[in-house]
Amino acid sequence: MSAPSATLVHPARAVRGTLRVPPDKSISHRYALLASMAAGRTTIDDYSTGADCLSTLSCLEALGVGVTRTVTATGVKVVVEGRPDGFAVPRGPLDCGNSGTTMRMLSGLLASQPFTATLVGDRSLSGRPMRRVAAPLTAMGARVELQEGGRPPLTITGGALTGITHTPEVPSAQIKSAVLLAGLRASGHTTVREPAATRDHTERALAAFGVEVTRSADGDVRVAGGARLAGGLSLLVPGDPSSTAFLAVAAAGLPGSAVEITDVDLNPTRTALFDVLRRAGADVTTTIESTRHGEPVGRVRVAHGAPAALVITPAEVPLLIDELPALAALATFTGSIEVHGAGELRVKESDRISALVQGLERLGADVDEFPDGFAVRATRRLTGGTVDAHHDHRLAMTFAIAGLGASGPTTILGAEIAAVSFPGFFTTLDRLRA
Ligand code: S3P
Repeated sequence: MSAPSATLVHPARAVRGTLRVPPDKSISHRYALLASMAAGRTTIDDYSTGADCLSTLSCLEALGVGVTRTVTATGVKVVVEGRPDGFAVPRGPLDCGNSGTTMRMLSGLLASQPFTATLVGDRSLSGRPMRRVAAPLTAMGARVELQEGGRPPLTITGGALTGITHTPEVPSAQIKSAVLLAGLRASGHTTVREPAATRDHTERALAAFGVEVTRSADGDVRVAGGARLAGGLSLLVPGDPSSTAFLAVAAAGLPGSAVEITDVDLNPTRTALFDVLRRAGADVTTTIESTRHGEPVGRVRVAHGAPAALVITPAEVPLLIDELPALAALATFTGSIEVHGAGELRVKESDRISALVQGLERLGADVDEFPDGFAVRATRRLTGGTVDAHHDHRLAMTFAIAGLGASGPTTILGAEIAAVSFPGFFTTLDRLRA
């Protein structure tokens, strides 16, 4: 194996500018997966070119779904020819790459298909927990085999499914989505009782495809089996708020900064970070300009404030789960952060608690690691140094943002992994330097 590449990030005085960020990863996955079940052709404009979303497309192609990609002025247009009556038997293992969303949500689709398929992933994905989807899909009637410790490869044999009521062991949009997608091909109703609300793109996308999804006052989400998904839709994916987070944090943390991100998804299950940045003293304005296929879309402007002490409670974690590393970077500029109840971070693309804490410490930060979280205090300026991205896109970007505030340069090993969700991240960051 070749040595990981090294990316150099120099300190910045400020970041300023107006731009779009790449299309949303979560929404792109869902539009492609739902289109694969719909009758006829679905067009998806501005589909994410992040590696994870491309893994979803290549898995669908291996299942006989027609997928064409065309480069347009603003991004990539994907046309999906759905197979509402079932997928083709794949010739080999389905490679989900680095993408947990692909593996978990695709398992939900495969649970009703009358054949056996094996889903594999890269080294990082091969260490991630899959029992959380295997258990409910097994209860519905699929057969799922996993490796030692409930890890991938995941081999699934689909069959006749029966609707269930499932309470996930952890709040997770991926588990919820896998169960709901299986529920569309099950007899009776399927209900997910969420322990805490998670991103609801699957529910909104299903409604856009003409499927009825109900949410009760106490948070139960329910679909009926046998639903047909409408074909012929033309969908457009908005910008990714989780990618916006890194630029928003840089603007909040560096004096004299202001960035504006246009055409970004402002679904309330994705915008908790902006509320936290306000609480931290940043000047944040979010403006919803339209609703697109059920998703509020608009612009976000973030300017430097005076970052204060932040405490993130366990109840806040589910809707901030992807943004906690970026918030840790903010606390290296000024103020502080303390996070608890975030043990889930240990089973993301890396152990995001220990890799984050170790990485920031190498750059000179004042940090503590807890079993379920971390603390970062801006008691001293970062020095910069060399850190490893740990094959984790969000850590690569977190270290880059922290490095902007350091006194010396920061070298990030394996930083190209940022392209999993944010192709062009380092070029974008350089364009924003003031
Ligand atoms: C995602 C859900 C979250 C998130 C991931 C994307 C999704 O994972 O961390 O980046 O698109 O549903 P969990 O469902 O494991 O919390």
